[in-house]
Amino acid sequence: MTYQEQLDKERIPRHVAIIMDGNGRWAKARGLERSAGHAKGVEAVRKLLEDSVSLGIRYVTIYTFSTENWNRPIEEVNTLMQLLFDNIEEESFRRNQARLHVIGDTGRIPPSVMDKLNRCIENTRHFDRLHVIVALSYSSRWEITEAVRKISLKVANGELKADEISEETVTGALTTYFLPDPELLIRTGGEIRLSNFLLWQSAYTELYFCDTYWPDFDLEELCKAIYFYQHRERRFGLTGDQVEESTNE
Ligand code: IPE
Ligand code: IPE
Ligand code: MG
Repeated sequence: MTYQEQLDKERIPRHVAIIMDGNGRWAKARGLERSAGHAKGVEAVRKLLEDSVSLGIRYVTIYTFSTENWNRPIEEVNTLMQLLFDNIEEESFRRNQARLHVIGDTGRIPPSVMDKLNRCIENTRHFDRLHVIVALSYSSRWEITEAVRKISLKVANGELKADEISEETVTGALTTYFLPDPELLIRTGGEIRLSNFLLWQSAYTELYFCDTYWPDFDLEELCKAIYFYQHRERRFGLTGDQVEESTNE
């Protein structure tokens, strides 16, 4: 039986976050340039959007380019920016009734790319079936630092008192303020780390790591990740008995 057939359709995670890793190694294993891996990775993203819609996922956040990725060779950075520019397809968002959001330090993104992204954000803002959040020039430490700055400014202006700062204040000052926390975070490519992605938001997220390189990640791989998610017990600090009691109520 496939993982897809074994899924509980009533318990699909609402928000799935993905660290799409392994493009370079996928290419290297085939004797190709890293750029070929990135190009193939784009195809996997296109497919992911369709699969997310068909499974009923509402939010998918994809780690596309990290703050640290600016330190890669300039040719690779340029290739990635060009690929992004070439593949922002409003048509595929429309087909999936998907709305685009971008989070990150977007002031660093080339203006031509940002213009195209902004147009797509604007033209898809009425769609609500799937929300696609592209994390671009993003890192959690950058985001949290920005949030601290924003909150401090409010305190300095007298709009907020220091002892009024709550978890909600911090959550609301992050770039993800409009999103529920992810229930499931997937990292492809074999590394067991978060690489500065959604550190605050993933406090109680189920983490799933697989060896598959991103270009090979398909519907069945996604279903496998969700299958494992569905077989975990999310306790949120409680005991197993407490969780069982509350689900029996
Ligand atoms: C992920 O693949 C894509 C980006 C980080 C932009 P990598 O490019 O990190 O591929 P590996 O990890 O070198 O195989
Ligand atoms: C994480 O992958 C960033 C993205 C997938 C965009 P990296 O390949 O940059 O992460 P590290 O360097 O292995 O931690
Ligand atoms: Mg990598």
